[in-house]
Parts: sequence; C-alpha cells; structure tokens
Amino acid sequence: MQTGLRGRDLIDLSEWSRDDIDTLLDVAMSLKRDRALGRAHPILKDKTLAMLFFYASTRTRASFEAGMTQLGGHAMFLESRTSQIAHGDTAKEIGEILGRYNDGIAIRHVDWGAGNSYIRSVAEASRVPVLNMQCDIYHPHQALADLMTIIERFGDPRGRTATISWAYATSYQKPISAPQSLALLLPRFGMNVRLVHPPEFTLMPEIVARAEEFARRAHASFEISDDFDKGLADTAVIYAKSWGAVNTTTDEAEGKRLIDQYSSWITDARRMSTASDDAIFMHPLPADRNVEVTDEVIDGPQSAVYDEAENRLHAQKAVMALTMS
Ligand code: CP
Repeated sequence: MQTGLRGRDLIDLSEWSRDDIDTLLDVAMSLKRDRALGRAHPILKDKTLAMLFFYASTRTRASFEAGMTQLGGHAMFLESRTSQIAHGDTAKEIGEILGRYNDGIAIRHVDWGAGNSYIRSVAEASRVPVLNMQCDIYHPHQALADLMTIIERFGDPRGRTATISWAYATSYQKPISAPQSLALLLPRFGMNVRLVHPPEFTLMPEIVARAEEFARRAHASFEISDDFDKGLADTAVIYAKSWGAVNTTTDEAEGKRLIDQYSSWITDARRMSTASDDAIFMHPLPADRNVEVTDEVIDGPQSAVYDEAENRLHAQKAVMALTMS
C-alpha cells in the first residue's frame, strides 16, 4: 500500500504505478463499505475542491460534489462559460489563484487538441493537486470506477477478456477518452483486451502502443479488429460505446458521415448471448438507447452500468482522500 500520495495530480492513470492504483482501489472499497454501514468519514473536513467545467456533465459533477460532502468538505462548481475564463483568465492564472483558495482543482475540458494541455498547464501553476475530470485524451476516474466494477464482479480479472468496442450513435460525436483510459488500464491488471472498431475509428496510435506495451509486460494479449461480432464472442466484459472519428477527420460533417456508415453496431440481446455466460455489459453513460445498445441489454440482468456509475463516487473519494488530505 502506498502512503505517499498526498499532493499528487491525477491526469493520466498511466502516471500512477500499479501499487498506487491498488491503493486507490483498496481505499475506494473501504469508503464504499463505510458508506454502506453509515459510518461517517470526514477525512477532508474544512477542505474545498474547485470543479471547473468546460463541458456538460451529470455523473462527474454529481459524484465529485457528493463525494466532497461525504468526506466532510465542500465542492465549488465553476464553469468556463460563466466565469472570467470567457474573458481571458489564463490556465496559469487559474492554477495559481484557484490553488491558493482550494485544496484541489478538478477540471473537465474535452476540446480535441486543447483539453489535456490546458489541464497540464493549470497543474504546472497549481500548488494543490489537479484532478482530470475528463480531457480530450483521458478519463482516468471513469476507468478507475470501471476497473473497480470489473473486480467486484469477477475478483482478480487476470486472464479474463474485455472487449472495448466502438458503437453507433446519433446524438453527438462522443469523446474518445473513456475507451483510451480503459485500454491503458485493463492490460496492467492482466486482462486480455480486444479493441474493436471500424477502420476510421482508431484510438490515438501512441495510446495503442502504450496499451500493447502494458499488455506485453503483464503477459496479457491486446488484439485489434474491425469485426464487432467476433470481438464479442466468449468475452467477459462488453464495453461498447461510441466515439468520434477524431483520428481520421476533425470535420464534423465528414465525421457524421463516417459514423452513419455503421448503424448496425448496436449491442443487442443476440450479440450479448454470444459473450460468456457471466459476461457484463458496461457503458460510462450517457448512452444512445436503442442506437448504441438496446433497452433490453442496458436494463437487463447482465448490465453493470449503475454499479459503474455508483463506483465513480467511491473511486473519486479515494483519489481525493489520498491526494488532498
Ligand atoms: N460518464 C461520465 O463522465 O458522465 P458525465 O458526462 O455525465 O459526467
């Protein structure tokens, strides 16, 4: 167990060692147990987290805010649109100033080519930990909650297969960060990962290269294919969600045209039945119901989406308690 995580930023989980992540999971499980037992845990009494959003959120905002309250502290909601960021506050100024008012800064900024570098610039100027609530490249707290959910269902996931697949969506071109963070994390825990997507929907090549290296070190496999049905066969985890063709085109209309070629990429009962008997369906939400996944699957007995959403709370509380105390 790591006891020296105070002051650490969490921007990409790959920057945290396997030992560090084991500690996060251990503390998250302990905090979840305490909450189930009604045991108060005011570890961050009188502390404040600034939460700065450049992009919409339901789960991330609600779980960080509830988590800070449960830890005895307070979460301050800020958004770029209604703050002076819209009038020129720089990343350095945000890091310096919010770092002097608060005990942690959490940021969501998913703009392609801008989000991660903004968060890193704030972190460079901040005297307190900076937590990535999702950027253009990573969604580390989602991946941590996803891994926690997999471990709760299967125990040690070593040797199990997880399929991270693209899916069709019509609502908007969804960020690529959740599948990228998960593809980096699961091989470190010995899971055999199948990454499945149409040819135009690649993950960033450097992410894939790092994921393959993590798999090699853990003696796990990391396979890439464009065959949705084959990718689901006998798998234990179906993590099927849409993402934009950002590595192929940044043109919105062209991106939409590419997406619309693959309207058959939906997780339905037939496809679910080809996975292993104890397989679970996962999705970080929001989902395009009956487009990405049918109601029957997402509301069915194999769906883990609500546990996954709940575990955002416990996983993030562990991160905050360990970095901000
Ligand atoms: N999964 C997730 O990050 O949800 P929100 O976009 O609602 O925060």
